[in-house]
Amino acid sequence: MKRPKFKNISLLIATAFSIFIVVSLIDSCKVSQQVAAKSGAQLWAENCQRCHNTPSPSTFSAEQWETIGLHMQTRALITDDERKKIVDFLKQ
Ligand code: HEC
Repeated sequence: MKRPKFKNISLLIATAFSIFIVVSLIDSCKVSQQVAAKSGAQLWAENCQRCHNTPSPSTFSAEQWETIGLHMQTRALITDDERKKIVDFLKQ
C-alpha cells in the first residue's frame, strides 16, 4: 500500500516544526537560567553603574524604587526579570 505523497511531506514539516519548537524552548531556558543564576545585587552592579553612581538602597522608599526601576529599565535595556530582581534587592 502506497501512501499519498503529501502525507509524508506534512509529516516531515510537522517533525521539523516540533524540533524547531523544542530547540527554541531549550535555548530560551538557557538564557533565563543565566539570569536566574545572578542575584539582584549582581545585576544591579553590572547594569546600574554604567551611567552614574547609583544611590544607596536607603535613599528611596520601596514605592520610589518601583518607579525608578521601570524608568531605568528603559535606560539600561534590561529584561522584566532583571528589573524585578534589582528592585527587590534595592527595596531590602
Ligand atoms: C543608559 C544609562 C543609564 C543606566 C544604565 C541606568 N541609569 Fe539611572 N539614570 C540615568 C539618567 C540619564 C538619569 C537622570 C534622570 C533621567 O533623565 O532619567 C538617571 C537617574 C537615576 C536615578 C535618580 C537619581 C536621583 O538622585 O534622583 C536613580 C535612582 C537611578 N537612575 C537608578 C538606576 C538603576 C537602579 C539602574 C539599573 C537598573 C540605572 N539607574 C541604570 C541613566 C542610566
